[in-house]
Amino acid sequence: MPFDRSIKIAPSILASDFANFGAECEAIEAQGCDWVHVDVMDGHFVPAITFGPATCAAIRPHIKTVMDVHLMIAPVDAYLKDFADAGADILTLHAEAGPHLHRSLQHIRALGCKAGVALNPSTPASALEYVMDLVDLVCVMTVNPGFGGQKFIHSQVAKTAEIRAMIGDRPIHIEIDGGITPQTAPLMAAAGADVLVAGSAVFKGGSVNNPAPYGDNIRAIRAAAKAAQ
Ligand code: DX5
Ligand code: ZN
Repeated sequence: MPFDRSIKIAPSILASDFANFGAECEAIEAQGCDWVHVDVMDGHFVPAITFGPATCAAIRPHIKTVMDVHLMIAPVDAYLKDFADAGADILTLHAEAGPHLHRSLQHIRALGCKAGVALNPSTPASALEYVMDLVDLVCVMTVNPGFGGQKFIHSQVAKTAEIRAMIGDRPIHIEIDGGITPQTAPLMAAAGADVLVAGSAVFKGGSVNNPAPYGDNIRAIRAAAKAAQ
């Protein structure tokens, strides 16, 4: 995975047809997405339950780009190997998911994956201070994790700018997740984000049998973000 800060659109399959994950992944890639964002929820760290490593392994052959796995689970350590074996390129865990963030990040890299840290809206940028050299991606949650279709939390724009300054020249992506639309994407691109996760705003109006709206939606978000970057 070569590093660059160009805008990348990562549709969240949380907003896709759960009976058709393989076809949905192929459809969004054919329509021009850059990464595929896979939301794993445990009904404990967050209220909802989605799916686990077996589903990730099943959809892996249908993803040609990057499988970006967002783990909203706690405890998380015991499951990292299962998700790495399932073919994740990036494994992102939450800073709030356990007491040993430093060790968990070392574990992810030892498994051969890129390591990401997600921060809830209430978690300050300073949570990253002593792990900056262990991360490949910081995911700024712009909604409280657990559901798609929520409203963007504006206070996260300033936090993103703060994190961008902390990163400096390090090859670390800033991903933003939640409530991203052509209206909110430019705010975050201007603040320093390069990976834009979007669920509802990508999948709205389309289906596996009518995927063209996915492409229109991806292009609209990308154009708005690029103009602000
Ligand atoms: C929220 C998930 C997000 C979510 C984004 O817990 O991590 O990836 O699916 O959905 P939208 O774009 O609908 O806010
Ligand atoms: Zn997510």
